[in-house]
Amino acid sequence: MSAVPVGTSLNVPSYVKHKKLIQWVESIARLAQPDRVVWCDGSVQESERLCDEMVRAGTLRRLNAAKRPNSFLAWSDPSDVARVEDRTFICTETAQEAGPTNNWMDPAQMRATLNGLFSGCMRGRTMYVIPFSMGPLGSHISQIGVEVSDSPYVVVNMRLMTRMGRAVFDVLREDGEFVPCVHSVGQPLAAGQKDVPWPCNDTKYIVHFPKTREIWSFGSGYGGNALLGKKCLALRIASYMGRDEGWLAEHMLIVAVTTPAGKKYHVAAAFPSACGKTNFAMLIPPSAFAGWKVSTIGEDIAWIKPHEDGRLYAINPEFGCFGVAPGTSDRSNHNAMAMLHSNVIFTNVALTDDGDVWWEGMGPPPAHLIDWQGKDWTPDCGRKAAHPNARFTVAAMQCPSIDVDWEDPNGVPIDAFVFGGRRSDTVPLVTEARNWTEGVYMAATMGSETTAAAAGAQGVLRRDPFAMLPFCGYNMAEHFAHWLELGEKLAAGGARLPKLFCVNWFRTDEKGRFIWPGFAENMRVLQWIVERIEGHGGGEEHLLGVTPRYEDLNWSGLSFSFDNYQRVTEIDAAQWRRELALHGELFEKLRDGLPQALQGVRQKLQRSLPA
Ligand code: GTP
Ligand code: SPV
Ligand code: MN
Repeated sequence: MSAVPVGTSLNVPSYVKHKKLIQWVESIARLAQPDRVVWCDGSVQESERLCDEMVRAGTLRRLNAAKRPNSFLAWSDPSDVARVEDRTFICTETAQEAGPTNNWMDPAQMRATLNGLFSGCMRGRTMYVIPFSMGPLGSHISQIGVEVSDSPYVVVNMRLMTRMGRAVFDVLREDGEFVPCVHSVGQPLAAGQKDVPWPCNDTKYIVHFPKTREIWSFGSGYGGNALLGKKCLALRIASYMGRDEGWLAEHMLIVAVTTPAGKKYHVAAAFPSACGKTNFAMLIPPSAFAGWKVSTIGEDIAWIKPHEDGRLYAINPEFGCFGVAPGTSDRSNHNAMAMLHSNVIFTNVALTDDGDVWWEGMGPPPAHLIDWQGKDWTPDCGRKAAHPNARFTVAAMQCPSIDVDWEDPNGVPIDAFVFGGRRSDTVPLVTEARNWTEGVYMAATMGSETTAAAAGAQGVLRRDPFAMLPFCGYNMAEHFAHWLELGEKLAAGGARLPKLFCVNWFRTDEKGRFIWPGFAENMRVLQWIVERIEGHGGGEEHLLGVTPRYEDLNWSGLSFSFDNYQRVTEIDAAQWRRELALHGELFEKLRDGLPQALQGVRQKLQRSLPA
């Protein structure tokens, strides 16, 4: 790590040979005027030094080394706790290209705004240059990014979430392509001014220029707003690249299922934020499922490309997990808990009196805690100890269920796609689409009740097509068309397409309790999906597709009554009339460029609904 004053020279490390990159870093330094520039090498020593500095600054607390070795806790500013979707912009040439579900602004106008915001915004701070690779280093499938940021918290998180460090420059050499990512917390320090533990700014902009593949983020230090390799690069920019180049960047987990017969299948599943991707990706089959094995390839993002054999292969472009803490326990996700033993950065969870962490759903509440806002907390105080979007950052390799092939640059062949939202009613437990078009329709019309992963109201039903509403870097209607075309192309080549399913773990009873036990018990649905892939799973056809009858699921080791099964699978005509009206509203909004085939599916559904 080399610290240098800006001015005469950036004192670039000798191993950095990329002129354009150096010029770009210089231009940002000129604009933002940091006190110094540090080129990150990704080493353990560098990370340790930054963590020590952040402990001194009050940004991090070192947790009890006996309980959580090498782990830290950060508490953010209460105004900076989640992604800010209404401050996220896609600056394509035309508004039509970004589409009606994205915030659009004219690129020239946005550049003027950003120039104003970033001018002098790093004064008094260090600007870190963070080289990273999304996907295995040097793989043809990977994308390189360089994030400049004035947040040391971002540096240490990027080191866990991406392949970050000096080796990236070896791949880039003199003229390799990279996605430039500019990030500032937006709180410059005057000479002698004391810093706050979590600097940020009430004005926030998360901006993408898909055509020139640039990312600019201002005002937030939290999660997807600030760790720019994740949602900004690996989803918004990558989805735009994929549209042009014939592949897909999706908000999907990737999981491998091995049957007792030793057959291995791969399933990619799209659920909206905080709707169970991490849980499903790390599922441990219930004890009755002897011989079944589930292993994890990814838990948030999948890049999916057609290969010469005509099949779709997926990689996880990330290196770590930025997972939701509340609700994670030895019961709900034993693998995630096992990952969290050491080398973790926790953000916005509570601190126990013995220097460990706690959050709602982890287990019995201790008698006293310091909550995520630094206040004394007791079980009867009426406040949450952890913020509902509190998260842990940890290297994926620490996951006990990580799959042996998780870093294979060629990816794993996908046998099924699953789409699921958080729906307290209407949508049944599981449905298999009869064909690709109907499956794309299911994904396109997905709805979900909003969660704490994004700022704003929670529990509000909204359409979240492909779980990509906040993450698609171009017109959503075109995304639907892209999926349909990809399916047609693969089918024309004679390939067997992946099967498409729609699931819902979240139906509730009259008291608002989940009826389906979920978590590990989702294995029962996963087994059925595998049986359908293998061609021997039972089921019956109805309005939406094929659903397992009660007797088609493996119930061994669980008592779940036929009555309850009815309640999670029932298709209520009145609810579905309302649902189809909502699909109609979405299609109306997306009418420019909406594939006719999807309108066709909707009309067919409408006709087959009993009056
Ligand atoms: P992002 O990281 O935000 O993209 O989300 P994710 O999809 O990985 O979310 P995660 O798996 O961390 O979901 C967390 C929330 O989903 C918690 O509130 C869990 O309790 C809940 N959850 C996960 N699986 C299930 C399930 O099978 N049933 C029910 N009822 N809740 C579940
Ligand atoms: C999500 O919100 O879908 C996340 C967390 O995965 S964040 O990286 O903050 O976007
Ligand atoms: Mn996510």
